[in-house]
Amino acid sequence: MHKKAASLALGLVFSSWLLTAAAAPGPVLPVGAVQAVSIQGQQLRLRTEHAQVEITPYSPTVLRVRIARQALGPDHSYAVVAKPQAAGASISQDAQEIVIRTSGYTARIARQPFAVAVYSPDGKLINRDEPGLGSSWIGEEVATYKSLQEGERFLGLGEKGGSLDRRGSAYSNWNTDAFRYTNETDPLYATIPFYIGVHHGLAYGLFFDNSYRSDFNFGASNRRFASFSAQGGEMDYYLITDPDVAGILRSYTWLTGRMPLPPLWSLGYQQNRYSYMSETDVMRVAHTLREKRIPADGITLDIHYMDQYKVFTWDRQRFPDPAGMAQRLAALGLKLTVIVDPGVKQESGYASFERGLAKDVYVKYPDGSPYSGEVWPGWCFFPDFTAAKGRAWWANEVGAYARAGVAGLWNDMNEISTWGQAMPNNLLFDFDGQPTTHRQARNVYALNMTRASYEGMKAATGQRPFLLTRSGFAGTQRYSALWTGDNTASDSHMLLGVRLLNSLGLSGLAFTGMDIGGFIGSPSQGLYARWMQLGAFTPYFRNHSGYDTKAAEPWTFGEDVLNNVRSYINLRYRLLPYLYAAFHEASSSGLPVMRSLAIDYTHDAHVYARDFENQYLFGPSLLVAPFESTARFGKLYLPAGAWYDFYTDAAHAGGREQLLELAPTRLPVFVKAGAIIPMQSQIQSTAEQPAPTLVLHLYRGEQASSFRYYEDDGSSFAYEQGGYYARSIGMDPARRQISFGAVEGRYDSRFTRVELVLHGFGAAPRLQRDGQELAVTAGSAAMLGEDQPERAAVARVVIDHPRTAFSITY
Ligand code: NOJ
Repeated sequence: MHKKAASLALGLVFSSWLLTAAAAPGPVLPVGAVQAVSIQGQQLRLRTEHAQVEITPYSPTVLRVRIARQALGPDHSYAVVAKPQAAGASISQDAQEIVIRTSGYTARIARQPFAVAVYSPDGKLINRDEPGLGSSWIGEEVATYKSLQEGERFLGLGEKGGSLDRRGSAYSNWNTDAFRYTNETDPLYATIPFYIGVHHGLAYGLFFDNSYRSDFNFGASNRRFASFSAQGGEMDYYLITDPDVAGILRSYTWLTGRMPLPPLWSLGYQQNRYSYMSETDVMRVAHTLREKRIPADGITLDIHYMDQYKVFTWDRQRFPDPAGMAQRLAALGLKLTVIVDPGVKQESGYASFERGLAKDVYVKYPDGSPYSGEVWPGWCFFPDFTAAKGRAWWANEVGAYARAGVAGLWNDMNEISTWGQAMPNNLLFDFDGQPTTHRQARNVYALNMTRASYEGMKAATGQRPFLLTRSGFAGTQRYSALWTGDNTASDSHMLLGVRLLNSLGLSGLAFTGMDIGGFIGSPSQGLYARWMQLGAFTPYFRNHSGYDTKAAEPWTFGEDVLNNVRSYINLRYRLLPYLYAAFHEASSSGLPVMRSLAIDYTHDAHVYARDFENQYLFGPSLLVAPFESTARFGKLYLPAGAWYDFYTDAAHAGGREQLLELAPTRLPVFVKAGAIIPMQSQIQSTAEQPAPTLVLHLYRGEQASSFRYYEDDGSSFAYEQGGYYARSIGMDPARRQISFGAVEGRYDSRFTRVELVLHGFGAAPRLQRDGQELAVTAGSAAMLGEDQPERAAVARVVIDHPRTAFSITY
């Protein structure tokens, strides 16, 4: 047959198949045709052949779609915290469709059969239901199929291995203790049913708010659709239509909440292993950190601090005086974080267990008997964190840690893990008054555990708590940092960790980390050094290693490694003003600290290539290129624009691939032209005050740029009531001006002066302030520390910085 005739014939067969499918639902039940429409305010309610539908313009850029077989259930979500905003929507309808228009999108709801299509305000198709598939049920399983667009890429979905672009892959969400996971293992510990689609210069976000086991298919073994489905509950999704990825993340974190500012100390270096076995052990590590001048802010205690692994207890032989130990650590500038596991040992006389029994907090079988599962302490009961009384009991127990001077809680094993065994599905959970089973509750268990831990620590201390969790759900960012569980000491795992953190950043989690050095096995010297260099450029910077592994403190790999690693930890501490501002930005806009290049360079195909997908921006301006510790050369892609080598200021033109010669002692880092990077003097802990001069590195660029500087007391919630210091700092090459905006907030900066360090301005630029020439000196900057060989040629000038706006011309 002629090629054209063949495709025509195929088209006819295909469309008549579609008609048949619509007419006879069979085992797959579609939503079907719209039969009745009612409009209540901005909300659309539809009755269709087989479903009830509710469509809400949630904001000018967010559209919510709910579909249920019978009546819609109560509107309950553990993830979404935003209420619908006035979206300024206009709704019109005719015989074919109902149209909702806001300033951000046009949604067209077809009637025959029901189907949703969303367009940009200028009429470009963003996303639509796949004709003939749409939304449907197979038994209780509910699914929505969206048309795959030509060239469409898929980003995010939280803690998932694989590639940055998820096109062609499928994933499941069922929180799992994934010991010894690999790049291919799925699911892992946490569930974030949110992804970003990118095509034709457009982008959108899609959040599926359903906590049952869910599946996502981004054109895996099909070339027709991207789908999401869950084994129960409603189809309930939010489509976010901001034009860029940063805007999508702002809307997504408006919906599911943002990270409250963590305490400053939690941005410092944290030392851990499984386990430091006694106070003597802990104090030896603490003193060694100080003697060897390795900056650090925290020590975390793994399960051996407990009496027979019983949560809320201390092994008094090994740790006779926890409060005293916390004080002794505090005197060395170190905070204490302890691990907590949800399994509560079933043991009469164990006070916390008994109080839990009295308060009736444990998960039960349908016959009313408590569920008992086996984990570290032996047979355990598990608190129901989806019940207010379960959270209240836990929050109260947690207070004892706070009173002993513990500053951080590390929430482990909360998938729930029972030695990697499946939990029975018939277990009952309160689900805040809407009783359900393990099937719906599992994926939000850890989220609610961290909520209880957070509330308990906040109530007991009045200070910002630090929390770390292994498992979680969309919204976990409201309470806790998340780390990627039991990784392996290998180069590929280090790079997998980078992709996991980048993906988590694309999914609303800004405060993330991995076990630096690897949990399973022991790294080589080279791998350890490279991983620690990289760790200094990840949001949560903690060295952790498994039970039967070689010691992995920075001094255990020899003097050369120690010197190298120390220079990067030092750098991390000098960069804290820059990093803290990036954390503040994350807490106010949802933009992550560790930013896949897909955020700022979404439509540049290079950033998705295998060779370059691991690269990321740390904060707004530092590009990190991670490579295996064994590689001697690496392929680099700097996006369009001009870049500086971080160590030497060597110029690199962007928009092209390059081959880099790699040095084992140097992590490749590049600075974006126009960057404004505040740094401080070397400190050993955030408990120590830096010198009173803020060191502001300015990298000359051809485009205007700005940076929002942010500072506060680093520990209290006073910033929520105006107790902060913020100002915008800008560089405008057209006007040859460096500008400081007026200070916002009531806090006084701890820095009384600012030293401008000018990169790319030549040795002796002429600078003027209020018509007065400033005393500029030519010199050099050793970005990795004075004891390191590399220098960048710079010009320097020290200025005072009143709270009012001022500017400097060059
Ligand atoms: C599992 C955690 O993932 C790991 O980090 C920890 O060391 C062990 N549990 C022991 O508590």
